[in-house]
Amino acid sequence: MTAGPVLEAREFSLRLHTREQSITIVDEVSWSVAPGETLAVVGESGSGKTVSTLGIFGLLPANVAADTGGQVLLRGRDVLNLVDAERAAILGSDVGVIFQDPLTAFNPMRRIGPQIAHSVRTHLGLDKANARQRAIELLAQVGIADPRARYSAYPHEMSGGMRQRALVALAIAGEPTVLIADEPTTALDVTTQAQLLELLREIQAERGLALVLITHDMGVVASMADKIAVMYAGRMVEYGDAISVLTDPDHPYTSGLLASIADPRAGAKEPFRVLPGLPPDLAGVGEGCRFADRCELAEASCADLFPVLAPLRTRPGGWQTSACWKHPRHEPLTEEETAVQS
Ligand SMILES: Nc1ncnc2c1ncn2[C@@H]1O[C@H](COP(=O)(O)OP(=O)(O)O)[C@@H](O)[C@H]1O
Ligand code: SF4
Ligand SMILES: [Mg+2]
Repeated sequence: MTAGPVLEAREFSLRLHTREQSITIVDEVSWSVAPGETLAVVGESGSGKTVSTLGIFGLLPANVAADTGGQVLLRGRDVLNLVDAERAAILGSDVGVIFQDPLTAFNPMRRIGPQIAHSVRTHLGLDKANARQRAIELLAQVGIADPRARYSAYPHEMSGGMRQRALVALAIAGEPTVLIADEPTTALDVTTQAQLLELLREIQAERGLALVLITHDMGVVASMADKIAVMYAGRMVEYGDAISVLTDPDHPYTSGLLASIADPRAGAKEPFRVLPGLPPDLAGVGEGCRFADRCELAEASCADLFPVLAPLRTRPGGWQTSACWKHPRHEPLTEEETAVQS
């Protein structure tokens, strides 16, 4: 991929304030995504995927008090310094968002089509008749049969898969350059899930969208990602091109996640292997490696100092970093290798 990044997080941190305490729930996360590229942000539930991506655009519950650190550049412009109204203007026009549950994005009391048309009018400035026509075209484009009739459907009158397609139409209505999809297929059955991923691929290819795909599902990652950021307890523990991370994971947590993909040869009834244990309570994390409690390779020294992301030797042309003290691939790189990584 030769194009520069369209969205780039640089040591992005987010601290949440509650009445009792302040907790850093996103800690120095750095990643980037270019036009046409898919970045998968992966990790178990509670690892900070949603807050580290949607938190950038202020999409946290209204009652949450948070402050941010680092930078998040959208085509070079830091969105963290914007006032709320400016950030809101980016949403829908520059950045489209697809949530796990489309009922949170659509107003359940209003028909689907007019909600999409409203976004078209807001972001593209079309008049009412043209916005309606555009919304019908968008419904057709996301594979909704009989879009003229479906324009007038209420959200509850559609199946989960259709609603999720309609949500893709809503997300791209303002012709964004970045699409953030937060667990877009989690609520869907396997067949509908595969169809929605195919739709996202098509839309991305047609429009050259940069896609940030948030998921806990390594199967989804394997079928979609160009690059992968693995999150654990609010930090990135591994980051690299998809082939390197999937074929030669370095961090014991990444290996554990990959082992939890169902083996298709084992048949659908075979239980997934699940990583034992739970992520730590972020209010109580100390200085050491946050994965230490669950890591089979942990040594006493792992609990003393947090491992930072360090470059690894990879397959030719690959790039990969991992935050684990113990891996032999953490060797000093040659100048040539360093050039590939940067
Ligand atoms: N509104 C909130 N109030 C307090 N803590 C929150 C809130 N939202 C998220 N968190 C905390 O932030 C961490 C990351 O959450 P989240 O980004 O939702 O994880 P993921 O998307 O990976 O499942 C969790 O530890 C969660 O408890
Ligand atoms: S630093 Fe230690 S505890 Fe952490 S992942 Fe590596 S081996 Fe495991
Ligand atoms: Mg989430």
